[in-house]
Amino acid sequence: MINIIGAGLAGLSAAISCAKSGRRCRLISKQPSERAQSVLAEGGINAALDTMGENDTVKEHFEDTMRGGVYLADPNAVAALTENAPDIINWLLGLGAGFNIKDDKALLRNFGGQKKKRTAFAKSSTGKIIMTALIDEARKYEVSGLIQRFSHHELKDIVVDGDTCLGVVIEDSYTGGKIKCSGDVILACGGLNGFFEGRTTGTTQNDGSAAALAFSKGVEFANLEFIQFHPTTIGISGKRCLISEAARGEGGRLFASLNGEKRYFMEEKYPELGNLMPRDVVSRESYEISRRADCNGVFLDMTGLSQSVWQGKLSDLRSECIYYLGLDPAKESIPVEPGIHYFMGGINVDINHRTNIKGLYAAGECAAQYHGANRLGGNSMLGALYGGRTAAENAEDREIEFDMPQSFENVTLSPDIEEEFEKILYEGLGIARDEKSLENALEKLDKLNKNARTQLGRAMLVSALDRRESRGAHYRSDYSEKDENFRKTSISRLKNGSLETEYRDIPERSGNESQI
Ligand code: FUM
Repeated sequence: MINIIGAGLAGLSAAISCAKSGRRCRLISKQPSERAQSVLAEGGINAALDTMGENDTVKEHFEDTMRGGVYLADPNAVAALTENAPDIINWLLGLGAGFNIKDDKALLRNFGGQKKKRTAFAKSSTGKIIMTALIDEARKYEVSGLIQRFSHHELKDIVVDGDTCLGVVIEDSYTGGKIKCSGDVILACGGLNGFFEGRTTGTTQNDGSAAALAFSKGVEFANLEFIQFHPTTIGISGKRCLISEAARGEGGRLFASLNGEKRYFMEEKYPELGNLMPRDVVSRESYEISRRADCNGVFLDMTGLSQSVWQGKLSDLRSECIYYLGLDPAKESIPVEPGIHYFMGGINVDINHRTNIKGLYAAGECAAQYHGANRLGGNSMLGALYGGRTAAENAEDREIEFDMPQSFENVTLSPDIEEEFEKILYEGLGIARDEKSLENALEKLDKLNKNARTQLGRAMLVSALDRRESRGAHYRSDYSEKDENFRKTSISRLKNGSLETEYRDIPERSGNESQI
Protein backbone atom coordinates (compact mmCIF):
# COMPACT_ATOMS: atom_id res chain seq x y z
CA MET A 1 0.00 0.00 0.00
CA ILE A 2 1.25 3.53 -0.83
CA ASN A 3 0.52 6.22 1.75
CA ILE A 4 -0.12 9.73 0.47
CA ILE A 5 -0.11 12.57 2.98
CA GLY A 6 -2.18 15.46 1.69
CA ALA A 7 -5.24 15.44 -0.58
CA GLY A 8 -4.71 18.61 -2.61
CA LEU A 9 -3.56 18.64 -6.22
CA ALA A 10 -0.30 16.76 -5.69
CA GLY A 11 -1.90 14.17 -3.41
CA LEU A 12 -4.89 13.59 -5.68
CA SER A 13 -2.68 13.36 -8.73
CA ALA A 14 -0.50 10.78 -6.96
CA ALA A 15 -3.52 8.79 -5.77
CA ILE A 16 -5.14 8.70 -9.21
CA SER A 17 -1.85 7.69 -10.79
CA CYS A 18 -1.40 4.82 -8.29
CA ALA A 19 -4.96 3.65 -8.80
CA LYS A 20 -4.79 3.84 -12.58
CA SER A 21 -1.90 1.39 -12.52
CA GLY A 22 -3.80 -0.92 -10.17
CA ARG A 23 -1.78 -0.05 -7.05
CA ARG A 24 -3.61 0.61 -3.81
CA CYS A 25 -3.09 3.76 -1.81
CA ARG A 26 -4.30 5.53 1.30
CA LEU A 27 -5.12 9.20 0.77
CA ILE A 28 -4.59 10.78 4.17
CA SER A 29 -5.41 14.39 4.99
CA LYS A 30 -6.39 16.63 7.88
CA GLN A 31 -9.26 18.05 5.86
CA PRO A 32 -11.13 16.70 2.86
CA SER A 33 -9.85 17.63 -0.60
CA GLU A 34 -12.56 20.25 -0.97
CA ARG A 35 -10.77 22.30 1.71
CA ALA A 36 -7.22 21.91 0.44
CA GLN A 37 -5.06 24.92 -0.37
CA SER A 38 -5.19 23.96 -4.07
CA VAL A 39 -8.83 25.04 -4.19
CA LEU A 40 -7.64 28.62 -3.63
CA ALA A 41 -5.35 28.67 -6.68
CA GLU A 42 -6.62 31.35 -9.01
CA GLY A 43 -4.98 32.48 -12.22
CA GLY A 44 -4.11 29.35 -14.17
CA ILE A 45 -1.77 26.58 -15.17
CA ASN A 46 1.01 26.78 -17.76
CA ALA A 47 1.51 24.61 -20.82
CA ALA A 48 2.85 25.38 -24.28
CA LEU A 49 -0.45 24.43 -25.91
CA ASP A 50 -0.05 27.16 -28.51
CA THR A 51 -3.78 27.62 -29.01
CA MET A 52 -3.48 31.39 -29.43
CA GLY A 53 -1.50 31.46 -32.68
CA GLU A 54 1.73 32.74 -31.11
CA ASN A 55 3.97 29.81 -32.10
CA ASP A 56 4.66 28.96 -28.50
CA THR A 57 6.91 25.99 -27.83
CA VAL A 58 7.85 23.68 -24.97
CA LYS A 59 11.40 24.95 -25.38
CA GLU A 60 10.29 28.49 -24.56
CA HIS A 61 8.32 27.27 -21.55
CA PHE A 62 11.47 25.47 -20.40
CA GLU A 63 13.65 28.54 -20.94
CA ASP A 64 11.23 30.92 -19.22
CA THR A 65 10.99 28.59 -16.21
CA MET A 66 14.76 28.29 -15.93
CA ARG A 67 15.28 32.05 -16.34
CA GLY A 68 12.45 32.86 -13.91
CA GLY A 69 14.08 30.57 -11.32
CA VAL A 70 17.44 32.29 -11.99
CA TYR A 71 18.98 28.96 -13.08
CA LEU A 72 18.72 27.28 -9.72
CA ALA A 73 16.24 24.60 -10.81
CA ASP A 74 17.31 21.17 -12.07
CA PRO A 75 17.12 21.58 -15.87
CA ASN A 76 16.32 17.91 -16.41
CA ALA A 77 13.35 18.10 -14.05
CA VAL A 78 12.15 21.33 -15.69
CA ALA A 79 12.47 19.74 -19.14
CA ALA A 80 10.33 16.80 -18.03
CA LEU A 81 7.78 19.16 -16.43
CA THR A 82 7.39 21.41 -19.44
CA GLU A 83 7.30 18.53 -21.94
CA ASN A 84 4.50 16.86 -20.00
CA ALA A 85 2.50 20.05 -19.46
CA PRO A 86 0.35 19.90 -22.62
CA ASP A 87 -0.54 16.28 -21.90
CA ILE A 88 -1.58 17.22 -18.36
CA ILE A 89 -3.95 19.95 -19.55
CA ASN A 90 -5.42 17.63 -22.18
CA TRP A 91 -5.96 15.01 -19.49
CA LEU A 92 -7.76 17.58 -17.33
CA LEU A 93 -9.89 18.68 -20.29
CA GLY A 94 -10.72 15.02 -20.86
CA LEU A 95 -11.90 14.77 -17.24
CA GLY A 96 -14.26 17.65 -17.95
CA ALA A 97 -12.38 20.37 -16.03
CA GLY A 98 -14.23 23.57 -16.87
CA PHE A 99 -11.44 25.66 -18.39
CA ASN A 100 -12.31 28.71 -20.50
CA ILE A 101 -12.37 27.22 -23.99
CA LYS A 102 -13.09 28.28 -27.55
CA ASP A 103 -13.65 25.87 -30.45
CA ASP A 104 -12.84 22.98 -28.07
CA LYS A 105 -9.40 24.42 -27.29
CA ALA A 106 -8.21 25.86 -23.98
CA LEU A 107 -7.85 29.63 -24.07
CA LEU A 108 -4.54 30.92 -22.71
CA ARG A 109 -3.69 34.16 -20.93
CA ASN A 110 -0.52 36.10 -20.28
CA PHE A 111 1.24 35.52 -16.99
CA GLY A 112 4.40 36.90 -15.41
CA GLY A 113 7.87 36.15 -16.75
CA GLN A 114 6.56 34.74 -20.04
CA LYS A 115 6.21 36.65 -23.29
CA LYS A 116 3.64 34.32 -24.84
CA LYS A 117 0.15 33.37 -23.74
CA ARG A 118 0.65 30.02 -22.01
CA THR A 119 -1.63 29.95 -18.98
CA ALA A 120 -4.81 27.90 -19.25
CA PHE A 121 -7.50 29.12 -16.89
CA ALA A 122 -11.02 28.81 -15.57
CA LYS A 123 -11.90 32.47 -14.98
CA SER A 124 -9.91 33.20 -11.81
CA SER A 125 -10.93 30.03 -9.96
CA THR A 126 -8.71 27.58 -11.80
CA GLY A 127 -7.72 25.60 -8.70
CA LYS A 128 -11.32 24.99 -7.68
CA ILE A 129 -12.27 23.82 -11.16
CA ILE A 130 -9.32 21.41 -11.48
CA MET A 131 -9.83 20.08 -7.96
CA THR A 132 -13.50 19.41 -8.68
CA ALA A 133 -12.56 17.29 -11.70
CA LEU A 134 -9.89 15.37 -9.76
CA ILE A 135 -12.08 14.74 -6.72
CA ASP A 136 -14.64 13.25 -9.06
CA GLU A 137 -12.05 11.12 -10.84
CA ALA A 138 -10.63 9.87 -7.53
CA ARG A 139 -14.10 8.86 -6.35
CA LYS A 140 -14.26 6.24 -9.10
CA TYR A 141 -11.24 4.53 -7.56
CA GLU A 142 -12.50 5.02 -4.01
CA VAL A 143 -15.52 2.93 -4.95
CA SER A 144 -13.30 0.15 -6.27
CA GLY A 145 -11.13 0.32 -3.12
CA LEU A 146 -7.92 1.27 -4.90
CA ILE A 147 -7.97 4.63 -3.14
CA GLN A 148 -8.80 4.53 0.56
CA ARG A 149 -9.69 7.93 1.96
CA PHE A 150 -8.56 8.94 5.44
CA SER A 151 -9.87 12.49 5.73
CA HIS A 152 -9.65 14.10 9.18
CA HIS A 153 -6.50 12.16 10.00
CA GLU A 154 -3.23 13.77 11.08
CA LEU A 155 0.28 12.56 10.46
CA LYS A 156 1.80 11.53 13.81
CA ASP A 157 4.98 9.81 12.74
CA ILE A 158 7.09 8.92 9.73
CA VAL A 159 8.65 5.61 10.70
CA VAL A 160 12.24 5.41 9.50
CA ASP A 161 14.64 2.53 10.07
CA GLY A 162 18.21 3.44 9.11
CA ASP A 163 17.83 5.00 5.68
CA THR A 164 14.47 3.41 4.84
CA CYS A 165 10.94 4.62 5.42
CA LEU A 166 8.66 1.85 6.68
CA GLY A 167 5.43 3.80 6.74
CA VAL A 168 3.54 6.32 8.82
CA VAL A 169 1.38 6.50 11.91
CA ILE A 170 -1.74 8.61 11.58
CA GLU A 171 -4.26 9.79 14.15
CA ASP A 172 -8.01 10.05 13.71
CA SER A 173 -8.79 13.69 14.55
CA TYR A 174 -12.18 12.76 16.03
CA THR A 175 -11.38 9.66 18.08
CA GLY A 176 -7.66 10.10 18.71
CA GLY A 177 -7.17 6.51 17.56
CA LYS A 178 -3.81 5.76 15.99
CA ILE A 179 -3.36 3.69 12.85
CA LYS A 180 -0.17 2.11 11.53
CA CYS A 181 0.13 2.45 7.76
CA SER A 182 3.04 0.51 6.35
CA GLY A 183 4.49 1.03 2.87
CA ASP A 184 6.02 3.77 0.77
CA VAL A 185 5.05 7.33 1.64
CA ILE A 186 4.45 10.35 -0.59
CA LEU A 187 4.42 13.65 1.28
CA ALA A 188 2.13 16.12 -0.49
CA CYS A 189 1.50 18.30 2.53
CA GLY A 190 1.83 21.80 1.00
CA GLY A 191 3.94 24.83 1.87
CA LEU A 192 5.00 26.24 5.23
CA ASN A 193 2.12 28.70 5.56
CA GLY A 194 1.70 27.99 9.26
CA PHE A 195 5.19 29.39 9.89
CA PHE A 196 3.88 32.79 8.79
CA GLU A 197 0.30 32.86 9.99
CA GLY A 198 -1.66 35.90 8.80
CA ARG A 199 1.09 36.84 6.36
CA THR A 200 0.45 34.37 3.55
CA THR A 201 -2.16 33.84 0.86
CA GLY A 202 -2.18 30.15 1.77
CA THR A 203 -4.18 28.20 4.26
CA THR A 204 -2.65 27.76 7.70
CA GLN A 205 -4.10 24.27 7.64
CA ASN A 206 -0.71 23.68 5.97
CA ASP A 207 0.87 24.38 9.33
CA GLY A 208 4.32 22.96 8.58
CA SER A 209 4.05 20.16 11.14
CA ALA A 210 4.47 17.37 8.56
CA ALA A 211 7.54 19.12 7.15
CA ALA A 212 8.95 19.63 10.65
CA LEU A 213 8.39 15.95 11.39
CA ALA A 214 10.20 14.97 8.19
CA PHE A 215 13.06 17.30 9.11
CA SER A 216 13.36 15.68 12.53
CA LYS A 217 13.69 12.29 10.81
CA GLY A 218 16.77 13.33 8.83
CA VAL A 219 14.98 14.21 5.59
CA GLU A 220 17.03 16.73 3.59
CA PHE A 221 15.54 20.10 2.71
CA ALA A 222 16.67 22.40 -0.08
CA ASN A 223 16.63 26.12 -0.86
CA LEU A 224 14.74 27.10 2.27
CA GLU A 225 15.73 30.75 1.87
CA PHE A 226 13.54 31.21 -1.21
CA ILE A 227 10.11 32.50 -0.19
CA GLN A 228 7.94 34.04 -2.87
CA PHE A 229 6.11 37.30 -2.20
CA HIS A 230 3.19 37.84 -4.57
CA PRO A 231 3.02 41.53 -5.52
CA THR A 232 -0.74 41.92 -5.36
CA THR A 233 -2.38 40.85 -2.12
CA ILE A 234 -4.82 42.52 0.24
CA GLY A 235 -5.15 42.06 3.99
CA ILE A 236 -8.29 40.30 5.19
CA SER A 237 -8.98 38.84 8.58
CA GLY A 238 -6.22 36.42 9.52
CA LYS A 239 -4.54 36.15 6.11
CA ARG A 240 -3.52 37.80 2.87
CA CYS A 241 -6.01 37.48 0.04
CA LEU A 242 -4.58 37.00 -3.44
CA ILE A 243 -5.45 39.37 -6.26
CA SER A 244 -4.50 37.07 -9.09
CA GLU A 245 -1.70 37.84 -11.51
CA ALA A 246 -4.45 37.20 -14.07
CA ALA A 247 -5.54 40.79 -13.37
CA ARG A 248 -2.25 42.03 -14.84
CA GLY A 249 -2.26 39.27 -17.45
CA GLU A 250 -5.54 40.68 -18.72
CA GLY A 251 -4.24 44.26 -18.73
CA GLY A 252 -4.22 45.50 -15.10
CA ARG A 253 -1.51 48.09 -14.33
CA LEU A 254 0.41 48.78 -11.14
CA PHE A 255 1.08 52.34 -10.12
CA ALA A 256 2.48 54.13 -7.10
CA SER A 257 0.90 57.32 -5.89
CA LEU A 258 3.86 59.69 -5.40
CA ASN A 259 2.65 62.93 -3.87
CA GLY A 260 -0.65 62.31 -5.59
CA GLU A 261 0.93 61.67 -9.00
CA LYS A 262 0.37 58.23 -10.57
CA ARG A 263 3.64 56.54 -11.55
CA TYR A 264 3.30 53.29 -13.50
CA PHE A 265 6.65 52.23 -12.12
CA MET A 266 6.86 48.75 -13.67
CA GLU A 267 6.08 50.03 -17.15
CA GLU A 268 8.59 52.87 -16.77
CA LYS A 269 11.43 50.66 -15.63
CA TYR A 270 10.74 47.46 -17.61
CA PRO A 271 9.28 48.52 -20.97
CA GLU A 272 9.21 44.99 -22.39
CA LEU A 273 7.35 42.93 -19.75
CA GLY A 274 6.26 45.81 -17.51
CA ASN A 275 3.63 44.62 -15.01
CA LEU A 276 4.33 41.04 -16.04
CA MET A 277 7.93 40.85 -14.92
CA PRO A 278 8.57 37.79 -12.73
CA ARG A 279 7.04 38.11 -9.28
CA ASP A 280 10.28 38.55 -7.37
CA VAL A 281 11.05 41.67 -9.42
CA VAL A 282 7.53 43.13 -9.21
CA SER A 283 7.29 42.54 -5.46
CA ARG A 284 10.67 44.08 -4.78
CA GLU A 285 9.99 47.14 -6.94
CA SER A 286 6.64 47.60 -5.27
CA TYR A 287 8.18 47.24 -1.80
CA GLU A 288 11.00 49.69 -2.60
CA ILE A 289 8.74 52.37 -4.03
CA SER A 290 6.24 52.04 -1.18
CA ARG A 291 9.04 52.94 1.27
CA ARG A 292 9.64 56.33 -0.30
CA ALA A 293 8.57 59.23 1.89
CA ASP A 294 6.45 60.69 -0.92
CA CYS A 295 4.60 57.43 -1.63
CA ASN A 296 0.96 57.17 -0.59
CA GLY A 297 0.59 53.56 -1.59
CA VAL A 298 0.75 51.14 -4.49
CA PHE A 299 -2.42 50.43 -6.46
CA LEU A 300 -3.64 48.07 -9.14
CA ASP A 301 -5.53 49.82 -11.89
CA MET A 302 -7.97 47.52 -13.67
CA THR A 303 -10.35 50.23 -14.79
CA GLY A 304 -9.33 49.83 -18.43
CA LEU A 305 -10.48 46.19 -18.69
CA SER A 306 -13.41 45.51 -20.97
CA GLN A 307 -16.79 44.25 -19.84
CA SER A 308 -16.17 40.98 -21.66
CA VAL A 309 -12.95 40.41 -19.68
CA TRP A 310 -14.74 41.13 -16.41
CA GLN A 311 -17.64 38.89 -17.24
CA GLY A 312 -15.87 36.04 -18.97
CA LYS A 313 -12.52 35.91 -17.23
CA LEU A 314 -12.35 37.80 -13.95
CA SER A 315 -15.84 37.88 -12.48
CA ASP A 316 -14.73 36.03 -9.31
CA LEU A 317 -11.83 38.43 -8.78
CA ARG A 318 -14.17 41.40 -9.10
CA SER A 319 -16.59 39.90 -6.55
CA GLU A 320 -13.68 39.28 -4.19
CA CYS A 321 -12.63 42.97 -4.31
CA ILE A 322 -16.17 44.17 -3.79
CA TYR A 323 -16.68 41.76 -0.89
CA TYR A 324 -13.40 42.29 0.94
CA LEU A 325 -12.48 45.88 0.03
CA GLY A 326 -15.84 47.41 -0.74
CA LEU A 327 -14.27 48.63 -4.00
CA ASP A 328 -15.35 47.81 -7.53
CA PRO A 329 -12.09 47.30 -9.45
CA ALA A 330 -13.88 47.96 -12.75
CA LYS A 331 -14.46 51.50 -11.52
CA GLU A 332 -11.55 52.35 -9.21
CA SER A 333 -8.00 51.24 -8.47
CA ILE A 334 -7.42 49.01 -5.47
CA PRO A 335 -4.58 49.24 -2.93
CA VAL A 336 -2.24 46.21 -3.02
CA GLU A 337 0.85 45.01 -1.14
CA PRO A 338 3.21 42.07 -1.54
CA GLY A 339 2.40 39.07 0.64
CA ILE A 340 3.96 35.63 1.10
CA HIS A 341 2.51 33.30 -1.51
CA TYR A 342 4.75 30.30 -2.14
CA PHE A 343 7.74 28.41 -0.76
CA MET A 344 10.19 27.44 -3.49
CA GLY A 345 12.26 25.61 -0.88
CA GLY A 346 11.19 22.41 0.81
CA ILE A 347 11.95 18.71 0.88
CA ASN A 348 14.88 17.95 -1.40
CA VAL A 349 13.85 15.51 -4.13
CA ASP A 350 15.48 14.09 -7.23
CA ILE A 351 13.93 14.06 -10.68
CA ASN A 352 11.81 11.03 -9.62
CA HIS A 353 10.63 12.86 -6.47
CA ARG A 354 12.64 10.56 -4.21
CA THR A 355 13.99 12.02 -0.96
CA ASN A 356 17.23 10.91 0.69
CA ILE A 357 15.18 8.30 2.66
CA LYS A 358 14.31 5.18 0.64
CA GLY A 359 10.58 4.73 0.16
CA LEU A 360 9.84 8.37 1.03
CA TYR A 361 8.79 10.79 -1.74
CA ALA A 362 7.58 14.38 -1.80
CA ALA A 363 5.58 16.36 -4.34
CA GLY A 364 3.78 19.68 -4.66
CA GLU A 365 4.68 22.76 -2.65
CA CYS A 366 6.29 20.80 0.19
CA ALA A 367 9.01 19.69 -2.24
CA ALA A 368 11.81 21.83 -3.68
CA GLN A 369 11.63 21.05 -7.37
CA TYR A 370 11.09 22.91 -10.68
CA HIS A 371 11.05 26.51 -9.44
CA GLY A 372 14.61 27.35 -8.41
CA ALA A 373 14.96 30.78 -6.85
CA ASN A 374 11.57 32.06 -7.99
CA ARG A 375 8.50 30.30 -9.32
CA LEU A 376 6.68 31.55 -12.40
CA GLY A 377 2.98 32.07 -11.86
CA GLY A 378 1.04 29.20 -13.40
CA ASN A 379 3.79 26.65 -12.76
CA SER A 380 2.68 25.61 -9.28
CA MET A 381 -0.42 23.61 -10.18
CA LEU A 382 1.55 22.11 -13.04
CA GLY A 383 4.39 21.14 -10.69
CA ALA A 384 1.93 19.66 -8.19
CA LEU A 385 0.10 17.57 -10.79
CA TYR A 386 3.22 16.37 -12.56
CA GLY A 387 5.16 15.88 -9.32
CA GLY A 388 2.37 13.85 -7.73
CA ARG A 389 2.16 11.66 -10.80
CA THR A 390 5.94 11.18 -10.99
CA ALA A 391 6.24 10.31 -7.30
CA ALA A 392 3.43 7.78 -7.65
CA GLU A 393 5.03 6.19 -10.71
CA ASN A 394 8.18 5.58 -8.70
CA ALA A 395 6.65 4.52 -5.38
CA GLU A 396 6.20 0.82 -4.70
CA ASP A 397 3.21 -1.00 -3.31
CA ARG A 398 4.93 -2.96 -0.56
CA GLU A 399 4.33 -3.90 3.06
CA ILE A 400 6.97 -3.80 5.78
CA GLU A 401 5.76 -4.56 9.26
CA PHE A 402 6.78 -2.24 12.09
CA ASP A 403 5.85 -1.84 15.75
CA MET A 404 3.74 1.06 16.90
CA PRO A 405 6.20 3.70 18.20
CA GLN A 406 6.03 4.30 21.96
CA SER A 407 6.36 8.08 21.69
CA PHE A 408 5.98 10.76 19.04
CA GLU A 409 8.05 13.77 18.00
CA ASN A 410 6.84 17.10 19.32
CA VAL A 411 6.16 19.34 16.32
CA THR A 412 3.99 21.99 17.97
CA LEU A 413 4.68 24.96 20.21
CA SER A 414 2.52 26.59 22.87
CA PRO A 415 0.46 29.44 21.36
CA ASP A 416 2.59 32.26 22.82
CA ILE A 417 5.87 30.65 21.76
CA GLU A 418 4.40 29.92 18.33
CA GLU A 419 3.50 33.59 17.96
CA GLU A 420 7.01 34.63 18.94
CA PHE A 421 8.51 32.03 16.60
CA GLU A 422 6.54 33.31 13.62
CA LYS A 423 7.35 36.94 14.43
CA ILE A 424 11.06 36.14 14.55
CA LEU A 425 10.94 34.29 11.24
CA TYR A 426 9.14 37.14 9.52
CA GLU A 427 11.60 39.71 10.91
CA GLY A 428 14.44 37.72 9.36
CA LEU A 429 12.83 36.53 6.15
CA GLY A 430 10.98 39.51 4.71
CA ILE A 431 11.34 40.74 1.10
CA ALA A 432 14.70 42.35 1.95
CA ARG A 433 17.13 40.61 4.28
CA ASP A 434 20.55 41.48 5.64
CA GLU A 435 23.15 39.94 7.90
CA LYS A 436 22.18 41.99 10.93
CA SER A 437 18.47 41.20 10.82
CA LEU A 438 19.13 37.53 10.13
CA GLU A 439 21.63 37.26 12.98
CA ASN A 440 19.23 39.03 15.32
CA ALA A 441 16.47 36.63 14.32
CA LEU A 442 18.74 33.65 14.92
CA GLU A 443 19.77 34.94 18.31
CA LYS A 444 16.14 35.34 19.34
CA LEU A 445 15.16 31.98 17.92
CA ASP A 446 17.90 30.22 19.85
CA LYS A 447 16.27 31.41 23.08
CA LEU A 448 13.04 29.54 22.26
CA ASN A 449 12.40 25.87 23.03
CA LYS A 450 14.25 23.68 20.60
CA ASN A 451 11.99 21.26 18.77
CA ALA A 452 11.47 20.01 15.22
CA ARG A 453 9.54 23.16 14.29
CA THR A 454 12.04 25.67 15.61
CA GLN A 455 14.89 23.65 14.08
CA LEU A 456 13.29 23.89 10.64
CA GLY A 457 12.75 27.63 11.16
CA ARG A 458 16.39 27.91 12.15
CA ALA A 459 17.42 26.15 8.95
CA MET A 460 15.47 28.76 6.95
CA LEU A 461 17.25 31.63 8.68
CA VAL A 462 20.68 30.00 8.37
CA SER A 463 20.10 29.32 4.64
CA ALA A 464 19.22 32.99 4.14
CA LEU A 465 22.22 34.14 6.16
CA ASP A 466 24.67 31.87 4.34
CA ARG A 467 23.55 32.85 0.84
CA ARG A 468 25.51 36.07 0.49
CA GLU A 469 24.06 37.13 -2.83
CA SER A 470 20.71 38.24 -4.26
CA ARG A 471 18.95 35.77 -6.51
CA GLY A 472 15.26 35.47 -7.32
CA ALA A 473 13.12 35.80 -4.24
CA HIS A 474 16.16 35.99 -1.93
CA TYR A 475 17.15 39.64 -1.81
CA ARG A 476 20.03 40.60 0.46
CA SER A 477 20.33 44.38 0.77
CA ASP A 478 23.95 43.87 1.88
CA TYR A 479 24.77 41.64 -1.13
CA SER A 480 22.50 43.09 -3.75
CA GLU A 481 24.08 41.36 -6.77
CA LYS A 482 23.85 37.81 -8.04
CA ASP A 483 27.04 35.83 -7.48
CA GLU A 484 27.54 32.81 -9.74
CA ASN A 485 29.58 31.10 -7.01
CA PHE A 486 26.22 30.69 -5.28
CA ARG A 487 24.50 29.08 -8.24
CA LYS A 488 24.04 26.04 -6.06
CA THR A 489 21.31 24.28 -4.13
CA SER A 490 21.46 24.91 -0.40
CA ILE A 491 20.85 21.76 1.62
CA SER A 492 19.83 21.55 5.27
CA ARG A 493 19.35 18.48 7.43
CA LEU A 494 19.29 17.51 11.07
CA LYS A 495 21.82 14.99 12.24
CA ASN A 496 21.85 13.89 15.88
CA GLY A 497 19.89 17.03 16.73
CA SER A 498 22.34 19.41 15.04
CA LEU A 499 21.80 21.39 11.87
CA GLU A 500 24.09 20.49 8.97
CA THR A 501 24.23 22.58 5.80
CA GLU A 502 26.01 22.33 2.46
CA TYR A 503 25.79 23.57 -1.11
CA ARG A 504 25.33 21.16 -4.00
CA ASP A 505 25.93 21.73 -7.69
CA ILE A 506 22.94 22.10 -9.98
CA PRO A 507 22.72 18.96 -12.16
CA GLU A 508 23.99 19.32 -15.71
CA ARG A 509 21.44 19.19 -18.51
CA SER A 510 21.60 15.62 -19.82
CA GLY A 511 19.22 16.03 -22.77
CA ASN A 512 19.14 12.24 -23.21
CA GLU A 513 15.44 11.63 -23.51
CA SER A 514 14.24 15.16 -23.93
CA GLN A 515 13.04 16.72 -27.17
CA ILE A 516 14.10 20.22 -26.12
O1 FUM B 1 -1.76 35.16 -9.17
C1 FUM B 1 -2.14 34.01 -9.30
O2 FUM B 1 -3.19 33.71 -9.82
C2 FUM B 1 -1.26 32.96 -8.79
C3 FUM B 1 -0.93 31.93 -9.53
C4 FUM B 1 0.19 31.09 -9.14
O3 FUM B 1 0.78 31.33 -8.09
O4 FUM B 1 0.55 30.17 -9.88
